[in-house]
Amino acid sequence: MRGQKTDVAFSDVDWRALKSLLPYLLEHKGRIALALLCLVGAKIASVTLPFILKHIVDSLDTSLTSTLVSIPLALLAAYGLVRFSNVLFGELRDTLFGRITERAMRRIGLRVFEHLHSLDLDFHLNRRTGGLSRDIERGVNGISFIMRFMVFNIGPTLLEIGLVLVLLLLNYHVGFALIIATAVISYVGWSVYATEWRTRYIRQANSAESTSSTRAVDSLMNYETVKYFTNETHEAELYDRDLATWENARRKNRLTLFALNGGQALIIASSMTGAMALAAYDVSRGNMTLGDFVLINAFMMQIFQPLNLLGFVYREMKGSMANIEKMFALLNRVPSIKDGQNADELHVTQAHIEFREVSFHYQPERPILRGISFTIEPHQKVAVVGSSGAGKSTMLKLLFRFYDTSEGEILIDGQNISSVSQHSLRKNIGVVPQDTVLFNTSILENIRYGRIEASEQEVMEAIRLAHLDEFISTLPEGVNTLVGERGLKLSGGEKQRVAIARTVLKQPPILVFDEATSSLDSRSEKSILQALEEISVRQTSLVIAHRLSTIVNADKILVLDKGMIIEQGNHQQLLELGGKYAQLWQLQLQTE
Ligand SMILES: Nc1ncnc2c1ncn2[C@@H]1O[C@H](COP(=O)(O)OP(=O)(O)O)[C@@H](O)[C@H]1O
Ligand SMILES: [Mg+2]
Repeated sequence: MRGQKTDVAFSDVDWRALKSLLPYLLEHKGRIALALLCLVGAKIASVTLPFILKHIVDSLDTSLTSTLVSIPLALLAAYGLVRFSNVLFGELRDTLFGRITERAMRRIGLRVFEHLHSLDLDFHLNRRTGGLSRDIERGVNGISFIMRFMVFNIGPTLLEIGLVLVLLLLNYHVGFALIIATAVISYVGWSVYATEWRTRYIRQANSAESTSSTRAVDSLMNYETVKYFTNETHEAELYDRDLATWENARRKNRLTLFALNGGQALIIASSMTGAMALAAYDVSRGNMTLGDFVLINAFMMQIFQPLNLLGFVYREMKGSMANIEKMFALLNRVPSIKDGQNADELHVTQAHIEFREVSFHYQPERPILRGISFTIEPHQKVAVVGSSGAGKSTMLKLLFRFYDTSEGEILIDGQNISSVSQHSLRKNIGVVPQDTVLFNTSILENIRYGRIEASEQEVMEAIRLAHLDEFISTLPEGVNTLVGERGLKLSGGEKQRVAIARTVLKQPPILVFDEATSSLDSRSEKSILQALEEISVRQTSLVIAHRLSTIVNADKILVLDKGMIIEQGNHQQLLELGGKYAQLWQLQLQTE
């Protein structure tokens, strides 16, 4: 699964993605400087601790001082103070930096969201449901992780190790520095090697997890279909097969993790033992004090603790980088429908529409529209009829500029729609689509969506025009009834009426109906159409007809067949022509 691949080889990771984060960091220079200061403070404190410890131990050691031991109060106080400031500086640093991380997450999250809305319809039709939001979530979390650990963990840990090595070299037997250096190198080496080796298994487990969850979601979304065909057992078997793959991959994953952790523990234990043995030897020979022994021990512990974390960070970092990269790749995607540079605003005065030799294809091998030409005069109503798949809805998508024409142009009041801004174009067109999808909010909110600032009265008027008032009055919660995901709790006809109401509310100069009343019974269809007729006398409308009886009064009827207009004229003219339209009309008369 493409979306799941969070583990990639180290060399595959494009560290340049980090550069994309830089601008977000640089917004807060002062804060970063303060955080760095806290960081240095914390590190100094932590390196000082073992030295204080050494002096405390030495002052308690009676073999060094012949006199009676006095309690080293000042040293103990210093120890407490330094330990506290170590933690305090660390917390301060996290608090200061957290704000920067969150601001960056917010900024980037918003940018991705806006960008997704600017991408073309084709992108959205091709994406996997849910996969996209998971990519964003992962990317944003990746940012948080990278910011936290890259800046404030890897660097400082290496710094601390270097500092300790220098201090040990200066003050003690060279063996200690050698042991630590060897331990650090072999620890890092083993971690990198084992992590690369494990990557395959982690990837397998991730992909199996994604496959099974995609399967579960798909199966549950098709709940009704599963019941229609009583295929519950079949679904469960498929799901369990995926789960078995997942279980197997996880098992391997676990075993390799055991090897990784085991190796790390072995390296730590043997170098600790080595260093302790050397220190013990030195103490017994009188070259070192007991305090020195404790100091060495403390330093070893202090180094291995962050080293342990380093292994985890290394693993996570790779995943985070891959996620961030994927998110930035999304951001770098260029929409195929774009406003031209200094695109004009569309000015609609008459709402005159012209299709000029328009051809279109989704895939080059399969032309959908071929050389379509027609005009709609201001305030006229033009209807399109034709068999399913003829390209009717496609025509509307071109007018709304969900796609650009392959050839030819579409003009509104003489302005080419591909040279005006998409926003101004779409503001002027009201669409009642073939399949209405609603937001999972109340009926009222869905209707108000047509014009968010509309007054209560205007909303009520739209509801009345769409003949929704009767239906709403039967609902216990009235207009506040929730419509369910995608509007699934409403019937097809009710959904269409909500769609009509919100388009009526938008009050655009151009109206487009794509079989907008196909799910209504003839009686409500007739009354709604009548109402629409009244309000749309000042609007230009393009109507895709489902029942021919609804368009007999259209100013012009276009008959579309295999992407071409084969007949056009008004109802009477087309009947007299005795062609395809006349045929369709006869057919519908018989069935009705
Ligand atoms: N996004 C798309 N990608 C590829 N083919 C499409 C797409 N949308 C529609 N089609 C195809 O274009 C043809 C015309 O579709 P459409 O305009 O919806 O027909 P209708 O006249 O029934 O409204 C259909 O054969 C359909 O399969
Ligand atoms: Mg259609």
